Amino acid sequence: MSSIFSYNKVDKKILYLLRSTIGDKNVSSDKEKLISYSHDEVPPSAYESEYRAEALVFPECSAHVSEIMKIASANRIPVTPRGAGTGLSGGALPAFGGIVMSFEKMNRIIELDEKNLTVTVEPGVVTSEISKLAARHDLLYAGDPCSGDASFIGGNIAENAGGNKVIKYGATGAQVLALEVVLADGTVIWFGGKRRKDVTGLDFTHLMAGSEGTLAIITKAVLKLLPLPRHSIDLLAAFQDAETAIAFVPQIIKKGGIIPASIEFMDKKALELVEKYLGNPVPASDAGAALIIQLEENDPDVLEKEYERIGTLSKENGASEVYVADTRSTKERIWQARKAIPEATSFFYNRYTKEDLAVPIDRVPELLENIKKVCLGRDLEWVAYGHAGDGNMHCTVIGPDTEDWHEVLLKVQEEIYSAVIDMGGTLSGEHGIGFKRKKFMKLFLSKDHLELIKRVKLAFDPDNILNPGKLVEWNE
Ligand code: LAC
Ligand code: ZN
Repeated sequence: MSSIFSYNKVDKKILYLLRSTIGDKNVSSDKEKLISYSHDEVPPSAYESEYRAEALVFPECSAHVSEIMKIASANRIPVTPRGAGTGLSGGALPAFGGIVMSFEKMNRIIELDEKNLTVTVEPGVVTSEISKLAARHDLLYAGDPCSGDASFIGGNIAENAGGNKVIKYGATGAQVLALEVVLADGTVIWFGGKRRKDVTGLDFTHLMAGSEGTLAIITKAVLKLLPLPRHSIDLLAAFQDAETAIAFVPQIIKKGGIIPASIEFMDKKALELVEKYLGNPVPASDAGAALIIQLEENDPDVLEKEYERIGTLSKENGASEVYVADTRSTKERIWQARKAIPEATSFFYNRYTKEDLAVPIDRVPELLENIKKVCLGRDLEWVAYGHAGDGNMHCTVIGPDTEDWHEVLLKVQEEIYSAVIDMGGTLSGEHGIGFKRKKFMKLFLSKDHLELIKRVKLAFDPDNILNPGKLVEWNE
């Protein structure tokens, strides 16, 4: 891939500089390793070319990151920061080769501050480790991406990952109070602090969230904690079809008078696929669609009243059955099924496009209708599931088994996107633009908007060495 920016290769001199600065053991140019660190969960087959890192670095501290960036900027070497590689947008793909910077060695939880209700972490901490530590202190870390048992917190912040609890607690960015970052030239700087309010200067902390590693590299994060709700239950409501299930979603909050911790949707195909994949019976697997509604309370009697109310409301709004999961194992069964859908899809199909569309919640029925129309018109299959309470649907269109599947999917995407734009929706709710979606940015954002993104990018990174080839196109 060519670029309007010019880059140099990682040659022997650069490798020597890296090794002598951060230590031999923290640098690799092993061929096998280079391959495995050169993609995320988007399979390399999704792209028409191959992309490969030229060197891997494994910094142990912020000072290492700073030194690496000084070398990279002095020599114009692209640097792609990488978490656990669970991304779904090709954000960790080394689009111009260069250095891939993995954070697996920066995995310390530095401090849990019970007075200020914060936890300070390095970017390579696995997200669920933060939740587990907080829970041991009766506290909640509310960021909850589906990949939380594997993904790193640094990647979650860089992508502003969403997940299952956004409706009640907000996405990852809403949990962030402060960040230590390293700029493209190696400068180390703190944005924010252990403060619940801060209007001193521009809000760079939250500009970092969702900037996909293109503006600066996150090296520490201070995250917000909350009291841990003492009790929770999950309702699994089965419906005869997707339309009835989705139409019920806005009623849950309005008529139920509460904000559930989660409202998740699974269509018929998703339920069937995941049951086949797991090899175990999934509750409601014979339904036309299902919703998971998670409720949390401190007082078990209040919780019981709530779930009875939501259960009755579900029945009044077309649910044929409502399963109550109130034990650890019944809850796990439901969530295991929900979380395994993307994996199940990748397991059974080779050609697909996992979408991450977000529309106003009252337009979700229209979105599903549109997907159905576009796919049926071409005899294609699709799976729909996602965060119904946020209007964020992962519609997976399954590609045809033909040579021209790239082109067919592209046409399908363009048709769906045009409808999404008419609905006031957007291209990505939580997975990010990365490499995979950047060509569609011009459909969703105006020229002025895209220019502004580029100006901000150049203010942070004038030579475009930080995760180049992502978010926007520069006439490459
Ligand atoms: C999920 C991932 C794909 O919601 O975001 O399962
Ligand atoms: Zn999701």
